[in-house]
Amino acid sequence: MRSIKAIKNLKGKTTLVRVDFNVPIKNGKVEDDFRIRASIPTIKFLLKEGAKVILFTHLGKNGEASLEPVIKCFFEISKISPNKVTFFDNIRKFPGEMKNDVVFAKELAKMGDFYVNEAFSVSHRKHASVVLLPKYLPSFAGFQLEKEVKNLSDVFKKTKHPFLFILSGAKFSTKIPLLKKYLKLADYIFVGGALANYLLKAKGYDVRKSLIDEKKYNIKKILNSSKLILPTDFVVKNEAIVDIGDKSVKNLMPLIKKSKLILFNGPLGKYEDGETKATMKVLKLIANSEAESILGGGDTITLVSKMKIKNKFSFVSTGGGATLDFLANGTLPGIKALK
Ligand code: 3PG
Repeated sequence: MRSIKAIKNLKGKTTLVRVDFNVPIKNGKVEDDFRIRASIPTIKFLLKEGAKVILFTHLGKNGEASLEPVIKCFFEISKISPNKVTFFDNIRKFPGEMKNDVVFAKELAKMGDFYVNEAFSVSHRKHASVVLLPKYLPSFAGFQLEKEVKNLSDVFKKTKHPFLFILSGAKFSTKIPLLKKYLKLADYIFVGGALANYLLKAKGYDVRKSLIDEKKYNIKKILNSSKLILPTDFVVKNEAIVDIGDKSVKNLMPLIKKSKLILFNGPLGKYEDGETKATMKVLKLIANSEAESILGGGDTITLVSKMKIKNKFSFVSTGGGATLDFLANGTLPGIKALK
C-alpha cells in the first residue's frame, strides 16, 4: 500500500476518498462518531496539500438512508468549512456499487485524479467504490487504514504471549474459521455470546431456546483444544441465555491479569437487548490491565465510547466484519486493490 504522503502534487487535484461513515444513527443523530473522527487526519492532510476532496460513503445496508446526520456531524467535529469538502450521495443508492459494476466504477473514476481508501471497515466488501475504483485511478491508503493494517498485523506477526483471545457474537460463518486459526496462535481462547451456545450444545448441554446456528460446522478440533474456555454460568431469560454470568467473568480475571496480549471481539451477551453487563465488566478489566489490548467489532466500539474508556486500549479498530476477515486472512479485497 502506498501512503497518501507519497502523492507528488495534490494542488488543485480532485481526490476521491472512500470513507466508511456507516455509523449508528439514533433519532436523526449520530450516536457514535468514532469512524468519522478516525478519517479526519487524512482529509485534513489532503486539504492542506491543496487537494479538492470528494467523500464517498454508504450508510445502512441498502442505500436508502439519508446522509444528512452524518454530513452534519462531520463538519461539526472536524471544523472543516462545508465548502471545502463535497459528499457524494449514499453510494449504495446506486445499483452498480454492490453489483461491483465496471461501468459504474469507470464513471466514478472520471470525477477525480486520485483515489484514497480510508474505509478499512468496508474493505472486506467487493463493492465498486472499494475494489474497482482503485483500479482506474492512482490509489493510496489513508492514515487510519495504514494504522489498522499495522496494528492488526502485529497480532499474528509479532504475537506476545500469553495471548488471550476473547471472541463472541453471532456471526458463525466468519467466526468459526477465526477460532480455528487462533487455536494455533493464542494461549487461551474464551468464547462467549451465541458462539458459546453453539459449542455448549455440541458438547451435549441443553441450551433450550438460546440463539444458535442450525448449520453444521466441523468444530471437533476446537472442542478438544485445552486452550478453549467456555462460560460456566449464565444470565437466562425466557429459557434463553442472554449473557454470561458473574462466575465466568471472575474466571477471566487471572487470565486478563497475566496476559501480555488481549484481542477482544464481539459483545459477550445479547447486545441488541441491552445485555451488556458482563461485556462492560470484562472491558473494564482489560482497560485496567497491563496487556497490550486490541478491540474490534461495531457494538464493542459503541460500548467503550459510551463508557469513555476507549483511550485505555492499545488499539481500537474501526471495523466489525472487516476486522474479523483481516485477522483471519491477513488482508482484505479493498487493500489488495490498492496494489
Ligand atoms: C460495517 O458497518 O461493518 C461496514 O460499514 C460494512 O457494512 P455492511 O456490513 O453493510 O457491508
